[in-house]
Amino acid sequence: MTDLRRPEPLDPSRHDRGGFDSGELALDDWLRRYAGQNRRGDTAATWVIATPEDRVVAYASLAMTAIDRSAAPDLVAKRAPDPVPALLLGRLAVDRRSSGLGVGTALVAHVLATAVELNAKAACRAIVVDALHERARAWWERLGFHPFDPDEPTGTELYLLTSEIEATLEALGHEVPRGAARPTPRDDRPFARDPASPPPQRSVRLTVTVRPPALTAIARTLRRSDDSRLR
Ligand SMILES: CC(C)(COP(=O)(O)OP(=O)(O)OC[C@H]1O[C@@H](n2cnc3c(N)ncnc32)[C@H](O)[C@@H]1OP(=O)(O)O)[C@@H](O)C(=O)NCCC(=O)NCCS
Repeated sequence: MTDLRRPEPLDPSRHDRGGFDSGELALDDWLRRYAGQNRRGDTAATWVIATPEDRVVAYASLAMTAIDRSAAPDLVAKRAPDPVPALLLGRLAVDRRSSGLGVGTALVAHVLATAVELNAKAACRAIVVDALHERARAWWERLGFHPFDPDEPTGTELYLLTSEIEATLEALGHEVPRGAARPTPRDDRPFARDPASPPPQRSVRLTVTVRPPALTAIARTLRRSDDSRLR
């Protein structure tokens, strides 16, 4: 088994996607034809896991989204604005040659850790996925995701509350990043001046001129002659 590199943003000029085969043509095609376009248009960011030779073996696409509050489960809607801010894990696929080895789970763990970091900077209540089919739905449920409609056995929309991510990451043995609930250490570096604060004290520079002795003597003579004129 070859070593795989850590998840990284897709670099269309470097990553080889030509032979990517997850068994789902639409997902393979999207990676080849639309992932770069979506990145350039700022509509989806694609993260990949690749071999040391830059062959993509797994990818996930991420985008900001919003959940219609009226259709949201209570835990999502509770004390939230309408729509409810969320993160969309739009696509996830693993090349069949690497499936069943934990790569998909590792990439989801990375995405969940990213969601914790994003939530600390710009809040999102939940992470949302639209499973391809019922089999994929079971895969997400295994990771703790809940169906939007538990009474609909074929429903493919699932969510995980951001507040549940930490427990999921711990269960997966993945490092938990510093989230919104954990205060960041104080940073004392100055950022900008507070316009309401008093202006800084201006420093006074003292210049001491040391005159050569000859000039000092002339100055003394001139001062004496001025004095006599005054008298
Ligand atoms: C679904 C997919 C992403 C899983 O990736 P993977 O790297 O093969 O999965 P992992 O190796 O991380 O996980 C394997 C585990 O999931 C379990 N699993 C696999 N398919 C499952 C399913 N349909 N339901 C429940 N569990 C499933 C395995 O039993 C295994 O469990 P274990 O770790 O306890 O042994 C991958 O098979 C894939 O790309 N499929 C095609 C596209 C797709 O369906 N994408 C889903 C996105 S909506």
